[in-house]
Amino acid sequence: MSDLYNKTVLITGASYGIGAATARAFGRRRAHVILLARTQPALEQVARDIRVSGGVASVYPVDLTDERAVADVAGQVLAATGPPDILLSNAGAGRWLFINETTPEEAVAMMAMPYFAAFYITRAFLPAMRARGSGHLAYVNSPASLVVWPGAAAYTAARWALRGFVESVRAELHGTRLRVTTIIPGLVATTYFEHNPGVLERVPGLARRLLPVLTADQAAITIVRGIERGKREIVLPGMLRLLYALHAIAPGAVQYLTILTGARQGG
Ligand SMILES: NC(=O)c1ccc[n+]([C@@H]2O[C@H](COP(=O)([O-])OP(=O)(O)OC[C@H]3O[C@@H](n4cnc5c(N)ncnc54)[C@H](OP(=O)(O)O)[C@@H]3O)[C@@H](O)[C@H]2O)c1
Repeated sequence: MSDLYNKTVLITGASYGIGAATARAFGRRRAHVILLARTQPALEQVARDIRVSGGVASVYPVDLTDERAVADVAGQVLAATGPPDILLSNAGAGRWLFINETTPEEAVAMMAMPYFAAFYITRAFLPAMRARGSGHLAYVNSPASLVVWPGAAAYTAARWALRGFVESVRAELHGTRLRVTTIIPGLVATTYFEHNPGVLERVPGLARRLLPVLTADQAAITIVRGIERGKREIVLPGMLRLLYALHAIAPGAVQYLTILTGARQGG
């Protein structure tokens, strides 16, 4: 029997893309998957797929940028199932825009999702997870949390905020039995590029030339395996891991290449 049998796994952004595929992958391992996002029909479809494959699924529609709504849903989940064994903060959005293209409202929205969403969901469940003395928190971030490229300023700032938050969660949980994992996907073929138009066109040439595009199912398999093994960091695919290793040795060189092969704005 899988180590995930009967484990509760709460996934944000489980209606589409990486979150939906990862939810199905946990479901196939007979976990009880708790699905959060805004679009109820899409969540219900993922829940049906999970039940067909032998897993258990519960659906909680919620706008994760609404702190009160998150607290309400957390109360319902805690009453129904208790604290999750695994909390996967995956929901994300954000267009890649030059600074002069970014309205202040959109910059604020990009901080709300994913950074504040991750903060709210963590804050809502962490006390119960700590009280129980076990659990696993995992966060999907972006390569933009490490390197910078032109034309994605507010997006990048939000990913750096998320990275700082996740490292702080890790620091606060040092010495406890709670684990923390950061997940950094490269390019994954999902609805992200429909939901956030213009992003694909601004992927730096370095990434376009070197990184194979994964399917959401491929990403999900790596994510589930990495979480199961308690990895501190899951970077996918292998080529992105190589770029990460190169960045650790020569950060300036990798940074130079992403800027050199990134989008340009006239003037
Ligand atoms: N695809 C890639 O190449 C790639 C690369 C690096 C990192 N990532 C990261 O991977 C994560 C998943 O992205 P994806 O590619 O699967 O994108 P996606 O297909 O657009 O899915 C995004 C998910 O987030 C949810 N979401 C967005 N805003 C929300 C809100 N306010 N409240 C609740 N849920 C919300 C969406 O659900 P609703 O619309 O139903 O609310 C959806 O389930 C994101 O954090 C993204 O930044 C993706």
